[in-house]
Amino acid sequence: MEPLTLTDQTQSEEDKKLQSEVISSGSIPKHIAIIMDGNGRWAKDKGNIRLFGHKEGVESVRDITESCAQLGVKHLTLYAFSTENWNRPEDEINGLMKLLVNSLKKEADRLNKNNIKLSSIGQINRLPASCQRQLEEVKELTKDNDRLELCLALSYSGRWDITEAVKKIALDVAEGKISPDEVTDDKIGSYLSTANVPDPDLIIRTSGEYRISNFLLWQLAYSELYITKTYWPDFRRNELYQAIFSYQKRDRRYGNVKNGYTKKISAAVINKIIS
Ligand code: FPP
Repeated sequence: MEPLTLTDQTQSEEDKKLQSEVISSGSIPKHIAIIMDGNGRWAKDKGNIRLFGHKEGVESVRDITESCAQLGVKHLTLYAFSTENWNRPEDEINGLMKLLVNSLKKEADRLNKNNIKLSSIGQINRLPASCQRQLEEVKELTKDNDRLELCLALSYSGRWDITEAVKKIALDVAEGKISPDEVTDDKIGSYLSTANVPDPDLIIRTSGEYRISNFLLWQLAYSELYITKTYWPDFRRNELYQAIFSYQKRDRRYGNVKNGYTKKISAAVINKIIS
């Protein structure tokens, strides 16, 4: 049993009950990855500018992170800023970067008290210096925490991740460190920015779009998808529980057949069926 952290001490009785229902109703995904979408539309619906949606989105980040920690999820990866997001208007990018710095400053102590470790993937060197410094500071503060790893995908894209891995593999092959025969599925995984992290079991996308949007392209091969119309700023723990209930009902076969299906078919029967 995990020791009680800050967030546990303020948790409502009703939520504790709901969480134990989620835990007892099936397996809890080890790794959840989320495409947080709909901040702009959420703000527009309220007659506000897009940055209000991003600001309210930070509240969802906190709520989902803490409920994942309580449920026993070990890795949570959030798509916070994609490579393509650099094409947005300059004022929105500036606002988002400042919001990131402020949020990291404000949440650092809370993350630490909740035994949550912060990490990041993506082209971190493209972020403003203030962002890079703040990220480093919180990573350093939380580096020994082990209840949950919260990974922010920043200036990230799946194709960038794979391209970088391919470059490194090509270099290692050219230098004779590995042979081409050693380039296996697992080997490629070990060159990605998510090496040492299990592939996501569940991927959630908010705002009702049916797209992967260049997120963890390699790592999502066998992830279960949950898509909800809810905009990210409204996506809170009760809906996370719905996503996990849905995940628990899935039959994950990894391309195989259902467990226990062992009936043998003779060659004669096969030939008869296919002819
Ligand atoms: C997508 O909504 C959201 C983003 C591009 C940014 C997500 C960032 C946050 C929630 C804040 C980050 C803060 C931390 C601490 C991680 P959208 O703008 O694409 O919405 P739209 O599709 O309705 O336009």
